[in-house]
Amino acid sequence: MYRIVDKSYFSPNVLRLEIEAPLIAKARKAGHFVIVRVDERGERIPLTIAGADVQRGTITLVVQKMGVSSTKLCNLNVGDEVTDVVGPLGKATHIERFGTVVCACGGVGTAPMLPIAEALKQAGNRVITVLAARTKDLVILEEQMRQFSDEVVVMTDDGSYGQKGLVTAGVESVIQREKVDFCVTIGPAIMMKFVSLLTKKYEVPTIASLNTIMVDGTGMCGACRVTVGGQTKFVCVDGPEFDAHQVDFDEMMMRLGAYRAEEQEAKEHLLEQK
Ligand code: NAD
Ligand code: FES
Repeated sequence: MYRIVDKSYFSPNVLRLEIEAPLIAKARKAGHFVIVRVDERGERIPLTIAGADVQRGTITLVVQKMGVSSTKLCNLNVGDEVTDVVGPLGKATHIERFGTVVCACGGVGTAPMLPIAEALKQAGNRVITVLAARTKDLVILEEQMRQFSDEVVVMTDDGSYGQKGLVTAGVESVIQREKVDFCVTIGPAIMMKFVSLLTKKYEVPTIASLNTIMVDGTGMCGACRVTVGGQTKFVCVDGPEFDAHQVDFDEMMMRLGAYRAEEQEAKEHLLEQK
């Protein structure tokens, strides 16, 4: 069992959980993720590790209330325990001194970007973060991202904070202004698709961190299958990060929606129980 030692809210539907997991805290690197099971019958939720405190033996996860399992996780309080936290899983982010790197983050995708921006900064890169959200209240981790960025460009879809526009508008303005050597993008699949199309146009090498459905997290079940450069890859063992220009995002989005009807039904069932 893994105890929750701290809980705070970024917005009513997005929160930060600090969970006791000393071995994972020690072993994790930027880009790694864990699979969490709230209880014996819970779904397996893949969550990128947003941070770790080796002294406290804890990892930090940022969770968005979406389906039944993530809602159950978000409803837990300090002192409560989750049944399983498995990890660190996946391949760590490949970090090197690229030069100028744009970190294009959308919404909750800002959380997994935080340790990557930190590692890129430590490796001597000039880090420009484009931090996008639908509206001001959904902008998360701005202060923390500023610590590891030379510049933060905030974009909101409705213009309620920072500049008005999608993440792609922010990324394009940076690329048009200066030479960008590398881009990392994390956010909803549709966003990563359009960031990828944009950086392809400007020939900026780009990696995307993919958030597919996962079951076992060990390459056995095939739930996380994606097509990259015409080849089948498993996000849990070959990723989660891939060359964005090679990812078939349309297929990924189709597979992400495969259980939408069942998810909706389960959500309605959960609401009826309340
Ligand atoms: P959101 O829908 O609020 O979008 C965040 C930002 O993405 C927007 O503000 C906009 O700037 C950009 N965006 C959206 N659609 C775009 C488009 N068509 N073109 C260009 N830019 C676009 O995001 P959210 O609600 O915070 O995130 C929800 C989704 O993100 C979930 O599906 C979740 O699974 C996923 N997610 C992914 C990761 C990952 O590792 N890739 C991590 C956390 C969450
Ligand atoms: Fe089963 Fe990746 S989650 S193969």
